[in-house]
Amino acid sequence: MAFTKFILPTLALASSVLAATDICDGPSITIASSADAEQIAGCKTYDGDVIIDSSASGQLSINGVQQITGDLTGNNVTQLTAITSDQINSIGGTFSLTGLTILSTLQFNSLTAVNKINWVGLPALQSLNFDQGLSKSNQIYISNTQLNNINGIELTAVGSMDINNNPYLTTVNVNDLANVTTALSFSANGRDLAISFPNLQDAANLTFRNVSKVDMPSLANVAGSMGFYSDSFQTFSAPNLTATGGTLAFVDSPELSNLSFPSLTQIGGGFLIANNTRLKAIKGFPKLKTIVGALDFAGTFDNVTLPSLTDVRGGSNVQTKSTNTSICDEFDQAHDNGVIKGVNTCVTGKANPETNPSATGGGSSATASATSSAKNDASGITFGVSTPLTGLGALIAAMLFI
Ligand SMILES: *[C@@H]1O[C@H](CO)[C@@H](O)[C@H](O)[C@H]1NC(C)=O
Ligand SMILES: *[C@@H]1O[C@H](CO)[C@@H](O)[C@H](O)[C@H]1NC(C)=O
Ligand SMILES: *[C@@H]1O[C@H](CO)[C@@H](O)[C@H](O)[C@H]1NC(C)=O
Ligand SMILES: *[C@@H]1O[C@H](CO)[C@@H](O)[C@H](O)[C@H]1NC(C)=O
Ligand SMILES: *[C@@H]1O[C@H](CO)[C@@H](O)[C@H](O)[C@H]1NC(C)=O
Ligand SMILES: *[C@@H]1O[C@H](CO)[C@@H](O)[C@H](O)[C@H]1NC(C)=O
Ligand SMILES: *[C@@H]1O[C@H](CO)[C@@H](O)[C@H](O)[C@H]1NC(C)=O
Ligand SMILES: *[C@@H]1O[C@H](CO)[C@@H](O)[C@H](O)[C@H]1NC(C)=O
Ligand SMILES: *[C@@H]1O[C@H](CO)[C@@H](O)[C@H](O)[C@H]1NC(C)=O
Repeated sequence: MAFTKFILPTLALASSVLAATDICDGPSITIASSADAEQIAGCKTYDGDVIIDSSASGQLSINGVQQITGDLTGNNVTQLTAITSDQINSIGGTFSLTGLTILSTLQFNSLTAVNKINWVGLPALQSLNFDQGLSKSNQIYISNTQLNNINGIELTAVGSMDINNNPYLTTVNVNDLANVTTALSFSANGRDLAISFPNLQDAANLTFRNVSKVDMPSLANVAGSMGFYSDSFQTFSAPNLTATGGTLAFVDSPELSNLSFPSLTQIGGGFLIANNTRLKAIKGFPKLKTIVGALDFAGTFDNVTLPSLTDVRGGSNVQTKSTNTSICDEFDQAHDNGVIKGVNTCVTGKANPETNPSATGGGSSATASATSSAKNDASGITFGVSTPLTGLGALIAAMLFI
């Protein structure tokens, strides 16, 4: 009995390996039914594209085949409710599904690797059934689905991930994700979307729009920009982040009242904080020493505390409703001391604080408004286009702003 139990799976494995070693040549096959898909069921690898015909309806099973070297595509397959596959483990091209209006099941029992995912307009799809977990993918784009989560996407690294306009998406937790090499972007998903990347260490560009929570406790390095827009959280904390390569931005987040970046020493681009009505104190950056771009703060804050800041290579624009004039005293002094290399504009008691988008956006910064700057007579600094800069400071400012 024990012997039979041992030998049976071995034989089964051997025969399945023999039967499935075939590589079937493409360049493509179009399937409208599970019966059509049986043409490639005996192929271990289908070397080409698999196209789901727009006439396909009901359930489509693509069984047997293990690898597709090209794309798996379905466009405007409006009568299809389910796509299942027992053995596909990798898709070498793009897994593209667009306009599958009633698709509610996506069940791939063996899928672990997809070069690119492009799922757009899947308004009936609520969850993914990827039993093995998708662990490898270079690019993921998911838009206009009914997904509640992206469980089943279990990447350790990804090039780019853009998840937008999925109104029912409330949880994203990619536990093993350690590395994002190009960009991660979330926008206009569920209002209560809480995002957790507990092990993310290295990221390139990060953009979070309309999210309610972002947790990245291990984040150590952001090679590109990191931006938060129209979010609803009160606190953001990046305990291990030491540097960004690009701009750091917090914009239009009405509940935001507390920022905590205890390890951050350098911002490689601009530093933009704007329109966060409850942010009364700009602090929480005890080690921030260098801002390579411009500093641009607009809002209602009463306090600015940047105790280690010694080098702002761009200019600064600071505008607040607060009447605390000490804020501008500090910025004017920082400019006089050469900490701020570019043009400094600082206005307190301003009814409508404005940012200087050209400064943090990389355009020309030398457009500080003469009328607003005139309100500040504490420093004697001349604002505006004609402010002369000399030496290395001028050169760096010129390089940054043009
Ligand atoms: C799918 O349908 C939309 C709208 O009906 C149309 O604009 C689009 O071209 C179609 N796409 C394909 C690949 O047929
Ligand atoms: C992330 O990827 C980059 C580039 O491939 C690599 O240099 C870096 O060490 C990786 N980081 C982690 C935490 O794996
Ligand atoms: C960030 O995104 C921009 C394009 O928006 C890209 O040019 C840049 O290479 C990305 N940064 C990194 C570090 O990949
Ligand atoms: C997301 O935020 C933008 C502004 O950044 C806003 O225009 C848009 O309405 C918001 N969308 C959702 C779905 O909350
Ligand atoms: C933060 O960095 C320290 C030192 O590199 C490391 O020991 C710690 O595990 C990191 N924390 C997290 C949550 O990754
Ligand atoms: C701000 O956030 C940090 C880190 O989460 C926390 O330690 C601190 O107590 C918070 N401060 C306030 C005033 O909430
Ligand atoms: C801040 O809000 C004002 C008024 O609503 C708007 O004009 C400005 O564009 C906003 N700035 C940013 C950076 O979102
Ligand atoms: C501003 O900073 C001072 C000194 O650090 C502190 O006493 C005061 O409470 C702060 N005000 C706000 C609104 O945080
Ligand atoms: C005014 O601003 C300065 C500089 O940010 C700060 O030290 C001081 O505490 C602020 N005063 C009040 C009353 O918040």
